Amino acid sequence: MTGTDRYCVMGHPVGHSRSPWIHARFAALTGQTLDYGAQLVALDGFAAALRDFANAGGRGCNITVPFKHEAARLADTRSERVAQAGAANTLVLAHGRIHADNTDGLGLVADIEQGAGVPLAGRDVLLIGAGGAAAGVLAPLLARAPRRLAVCNRTQARAEALVERHLALAMLTKTELTALGQQAPETDFDVIINATSSSLSGGGVPVPASVLRPGSLACDMMYGAPAQGFLDWATQHGAHARDGLGMLVQQAAESFLLWRGVRPPAEQVLAELRALLAPA
Ligand code: ATR
Repeated sequence: MTGTDRYCVMGHPVGHSRSPWIHARFAALTGQTLDYGAQLVALDGFAAALRDFANAGGRGCNITVPFKHEAARLADTRSERVAQAGAANTLVLAHGRIHADNTDGLGLVADIEQGAGVPLAGRDVLLIGAGGAAAGVLAPLLARAPRRLAVCNRTQARAEALVERHLALAMLTKTELTALGQQAPETDFDVIINATSSSLSGGGVPVPASVLRPGSLACDMMYGAPAQGFLDWATQHGAHARDGLGMLVQQAAESFLLWRGVRPPAEQVLAELRALLAPA
């Protein structure tokens, strides 16, 4: 064990993760000393891997697919966001205890409002999907008080269950919160967010183009090849397309802030990451 504070991202798969690079840049730019690695965890080995990492002096983890729900369950304490989402992407390990938080939604909101320059208050928002990715961002989206938020999903019952869990919050923000089946949206929206894994299974864009209006912002929570079909579809229909790279960096920035008490320069690191990933 070294004296350097250790962090890691745990997932399966995890080799593709950009988190080690992002956190290394955050640390360099804020003058923090830490070590952040990627740990491939066996599908039935998450609890043991987490225990081992904590026992070895680990200070915090990011959690990615497919362990976000298990991470929320295993934690000793949970933020309100985790309680609502049932999933955690950030663990703080301290004094032998595990605290779970979820920064995915904060990252998405920051990327939409600051990165794309679109305030969500008073807007009409469509969230496509009702799995873990959608659940993780719904409460932070609602907290920005959009006028209307529709959750639409191939399996409508899942959208209904997700909406049901967030009705009290929607009342507070005076947001009209509804659940729809994927062919059902009959109106258009200011902001459309794709939180499905449709592209990974070879599926197309899961909603009709009528949800877009000229100048809408269409965001995919993925980046790279899996996001491309959705982004091309949005652009072809006159919308502004935005991939999930900004959300990735912003959620990492929120995790870094939780762990280190310092807010890193997310916009700068996003620009660097885009340059790094740009085709030569
Ligand atoms: P994640 O944690 O990535 O959200 P998940 O919980 O398995 O993963 O959820 C995947 C989401 O993508 C769900 O909303 C799923 O729709 P269903 O609830 O109907 O399964 C959606 N999805 C996956 N493949 C899809 C496809 N081909 N067309 C439309 N939606 C799809």
